[in-house]
Amino acid sequence: MTLKEFFADQQGLVDQALDRFTPAGTEHPATIHKAMRHSLFAGGKRIRPILCIAAAAAVSDDKTAVMHAACSLEMIHTYSLIHDDLPALDNDDFRRGKPTCHKVFGEAMAILAGDALFTLAIQTLTCIESADAARVVALIRELSFASGTVGGMIGGQVTDIEGERQPPTPELLDSIHRAKTGALLRASVRMGGIAAGGKAAQIEALSRYGEHVGLAFQIVDDILDVEESSEALGKTAGKDAAQGKITFPAVYGLDRSRAMAQEQCRLSHDALLPFGDGAQRLHEIADLIVQRKS
Ligand code: IPE
Ligand code: IPE
Ligand code: MG
Ligand code: MG
Ligand code: MG
Repeated sequence: MTLKEFFADQQGLVDQALDRFTPAGTEHPATIHKAMRHSLFAGGKRIRPILCIAAAAAVSDDKTAVMHAACSLEMIHTYSLIHDDLPALDNDDFRRGKPTCHKVFGEAMAILAGDALFTLAIQTLTCIESADAARVVALIRELSFASGTVGGMIGGQVTDIEGERQPPTPELLDSIHRAKTGALLRASVRMGGIAAGGKAAQIEALSRYGEHVGLAFQIVDDILDVEESSEALGKTAGKDAAQGKITFPAVYGLDRSRAMAQEQCRLSHDALLPFGDGAQRLHEIADLIVQRKS
């Protein structure tokens, strides 16, 4: 199976599972469920769940907890996008090729939809049938730390917002990107490894891979914001410079940023050496993250 076919396959499975885990749009109170579903099914790439699934496959055949872990990551990610787009944060009207959650449902409902997806993510992890409690706790720990304020997604968003129109230093840039995006991508592969019952050394190797891939991912996100059209991205292009964001192109310029993404990609390949052939998909996904155009 080619990587493209693998992605289409897994995206379909992730979408089916997300649909099962999320209350129906008709469930009372319907507005919030419609708002959650609007953003969840607007057409995300599903990189985090697929990284989780590929990391699990590198470790073992045990799939009992993998889809729950994968979907919990996508729920947190979607919540972070809904809040990232709010007028008080990046103020975006367009996401995943559709109007943003607050544009369709209003700000109050968008804030609540983000909150609700966070809650649903934790709920989803507690509903893993036949997984032992220690594994469930370990997954919740990973997800909540990666989403949190100390080196996690929310912490990174705070530094990103406070950094607007501040002098773009390499140190600030590194700390923003590792936290706001890197932490959840790193957690994606760690959670895959944990869900599949990986040993400490395997989780450690996945962590190193996730750290490099996470940084590469946000470097490329920053480059695409400069180089691509809103149509290609499904979100408003050119916003980072307009809002004075601290990005890789702002600190290093485009050429150096591209080289740095390549270097992170190379380091991510090195981290997979202990897995031998078992990590083929993870190698391919690292390349895809750097080569992507949206
Ligand atoms: C966009 O993430 C936001 C960042 C963390 C850079 P993705 O590029 O994975 O967005 P979707 O999920 O495909 O919409
Ligand atoms: C968003 O970073 C990161 C999170 C949502 C946590 P960006 O603000 O760069 O994401 P886009 O470019 O709007 O997708
Ligand atoms: Mg932002
Ligand atoms: Mg944004
Ligand atoms: Mg961006």
